[in-house]
Amino acid sequence: MHLYVDTADLDLIETYARSGVIDGVTTNPSIVAETEYTYHEVVASIAERIDGPVFAQVIADDVSGMVEQGRAYDAWAPDVIVKIPATTAGYEALDRLRGEGIRAGVTVLFSVSQAVLAAKNDATFVAPYVGRLTDAGEDGLQVTRDIQAAFDAYGFDTEVLAASVRNTQQARELYRAGVDALTLPPSVFEASFDHHKTDEGLAGFRDDWGDRGDPLRADASEDQR
Ligand code: E4P
Repeated sequence: MHLYVDTADLDLIETYARSGVIDGVTTNPSIVAETEYTYHEVVASIAERIDGPVFAQVIADDVSGMVEQGRAYDAWAPDVIVKIPATTAGYEALDRLRGEGIRAGVTVLFSVSQAVLAAKNDATFVAPYVGRLTDAGEDGLQVTRDIQAAFDAYGFDTEVLAASVRNTQQARELYRAGVDALTLPPSVFEASFDHHKTDEGLAGFRDDWGDRGDPLRADASEDQR
């Protein structure tokens, strides 16, 4: 499976990359607009900091604009995946970009039907928005499970990339479902390392170790010197 982080914060990305557990970075226009940089600068800077793809979303809403932006994004760094919205024009742009061998997939996606159409166009990924569906009173987790089940049944290569994940409980359910990939916002990614019993267990080990000193010392007599 692939685990991505959904951010354009370069300091966080550097830290997360050092953890060794992330496979790439996803961005969208809102995330990039929070920075002081151009989309090109953001993608190039992220690409320098990670070993894996940077996902960049087209801004245009017409076919030729999306294709033009997709081609440009693809040339910004060696490992860019273009994000295209799930609109009628988006599917046409996707077909053209995939025909040129450019990696591209469908985002802002909310249904199994949208996902299957994307896979028919050989999308590199589909990104169902789990949190936004759930916020709207729908079952975002189930929609994502259904997409994964349909893709597995048909043998599609398109990666199911669960997006808009709001908390670690949603992430856990997506892991349980064996979803191909998740992108997590910084808050959920960081919370994924934590468990209160880990903190409690470590406090106990520290207390028990007390003043026993350096665990690397050769023998207890070194403490007396
Ligand atoms: C996906 O790649 C999107 O960038 C993102 O997950 C959207 O999440 P949001 O609903 O928190 O904006």
